[in-house]
Amino acid sequence: MTSHTITLTVDGVEYTDDVEPRLLLVQYLREVLGKTGTVIGCDTTNCGACTVLVDGQSIKSCTMLAVEADGQQVTTIEGLADDGELHPLQKAFNDCHALQCGFCTSGMIMQAASLLTENPRPTDEEVRDGLEGNLCRCTGYQNIVAAVQQAAGEEVAR
Ligand code: FES
Ligand code: FES
Repeated sequence: MTSHTITLTVDGVEYTDDVEPRLLLVQYLREVLGKTGTVIGCDTTNCGACTVLVDGQSIKSCTMLAVEADGQQVTTIEGLADDGELHPLQKAFNDCHALQCGFCTSGMIMQAASLLTENPRPTDEEVRDGLEGNLCRCTGYQNIVAAVQQAAGEEVAR
């Protein structure tokens, strides 16, 4: 199969690679760049575990081809911390016990980051609506909502 050359920025670093046109963005992140913080839970667009930001918009990276990300800015969970300091959402998920097995967590946090960019002070219901595409089998969601609200409060206080 003919490969295509793509150049994109991932977590602040520019990469140029030859990829097969069928390669999914999540496969590129994990298998080519070794960014295994982004995980695959279903690869059928159901679970949200693979969520990343592409040019600031959250997207399930199992639904996007790597070639479609050519020229774009991708942020994964691995690029969220600022110079070693946890992002308020990462800290809040830890503080609020918003994870158990952790499989959903990177996607959940990336989706929450997108939600808070669009709506910095959401109601609990708006948090639940904003995260409805991300599934968690462990927590019952209540602590996830609490974590997003803690992070929202910290962001506003900054
Ligand atoms: Fe992408 Fe489940 S792995 S939505
Ligand atoms: Fe296990 Fe969410 S913490 S799936």
